[in-house]
Amino acid sequence: MHSVGIEKISFYTPPFYLNLSTLAEQRGQDPEKFRRGLGQEKMSQPAPDEDIITMAVKAADVILSETDKASIETILFATESGVDQSKSAGLYAHQLLQMPETCRIVEVKQACYAATAALQLAAGMIAWRPGKKVLILASDVARYDLDSPGEATQGAGAVALLVSHDPKIAELEWGCGLHSEGIHDFWRPNHRSTPLVDGKFSTKAYLNSLKFSWQGYFTETQRALTDHQWLCYHTPFCGMARKAHRELLHIHDLAPDTIELAPTLAYNREIGNAYTASLYLSLISLLETTEVDLSGQRVGCFSYGSGATGEFFSLKIQPGYQTHLPTAYHRKMLSDRQALDFATYQDWHEQGTARSEEDFVTPELTAGYPRFTGVTGQARCYK
Ligand code: HMG
Repeated sequence: MHSVGIEKISFYTPPFYLNLSTLAEQRGQDPEKFRRGLGQEKMSQPAPDEDIITMAVKAADVILSETDKASIETILFATESGVDQSKSAGLYAHQLLQMPETCRIVEVKQACYAATAALQLAAGMIAWRPGKKVLILASDVARYDLDSPGEATQGAGAVALLVSHDPKIAELEWGCGLHSEGIHDFWRPNHRSTPLVDGKFSTKAYLNSLKFSWQGYFTETQRALTDHQWLCYHTPFCGMARKAHRELLHIHDLAPDTIELAPTLAYNREIGNAYTASLYLSLISLLETTEVDLSGQRVGCFSYGSGATGEFFSLKIQPGYQTHLPTAYHRKMLSDRQALDFATYQDWHEQGTARSEEDFVTPELTAGYPRFTGVTGQARCYK
């Protein structure tokens, strides 16, 4: 059997962020609650001329060669911030990336879990069509109501994964543990632009799903926790990943520092929740911020999407992976970001959650290709 996995990977996050100390000051909260309690420093905020499509295209553009584009037979766009109930966001991305017409394109949804569903679907597709590649775009804007408990856990970003038979970054290993149950921990009915959340319940549901998924993975693969050198978690906020890590190691009577966690959270701490992209952002953070050579090491991954579906699976990091990562580009993107003042943050939040049937034009606030320029004749326009 040929190996399947991640050949290339990259992320994009907007050039603006709100400092959580600014949010704490405005909301009358102790900044330490956000910094130490939730484990977050900043949250990325998209300008009105950015959306899930521009973010996904910017994430993918950095890694795709013309040869890759010609071999990509499928684009799976994972998101829970969809811009249309019918047309896949992937079709906009396909056009903006100037890809060949010989492509199937689908949007995949199950809250933050969708990108992992896309990865497993991609593996099956590649096994069936070995010379072909699948592009996964995971892109989301995490927006909660202003002045709600979830507000400090917002963020935005996209990850692009090129999946193929030539996994230069990480091989997807055989075996997984699955869990699904119909619950209302976090959900967004069609009439709402922000989710309804039972925050405390959601953290319990996440941990329950983790334990169940891990048990299924262990039963199927017989790999012990200590057979994994690293663990990456879906990271709505870093404190949640820390809780998950403690819980998982505790089941096996292991101290949390038996497996190091910090490198998997460095980027998430600066970006916030990016829903479908969060787990893969944590993976990129591990690949790019640890001093250790990860070649040959195994990473256990827990993907969770409210509602709820969880999956535990593993990746094997490939020799020479470092040379295939756009690390300098990512670091510069993070260090070049600008802090927003609170009034601008609130204004952009209101624009991002407004619902209108009127056409509009967005102000030019972000550089680079592409920009979301507004809506004309009820159709989204990009430049
Ligand atoms: P809250 O209830 O306002 O916060 O919001 P809290 O009182 O639980 O405090 C948070 C932590 O800060 C606690 O730590 C406090 O002790 C600590 P813990 O006990 O949990 O370890 N703390 C302090 N630490 C230091 N100095 C201080 C201080 N004060 C308090 N002065 C909540 C927290 C998570 C409920 C809220 O942010 C929320 O609703 N977030 C959104 C929901 C969410 O992220 N859920 C996570 C699991 S569900 C999931 O991951 C799926 C999701 O990504 C969506 C999807 O799948 O699509 C959300």
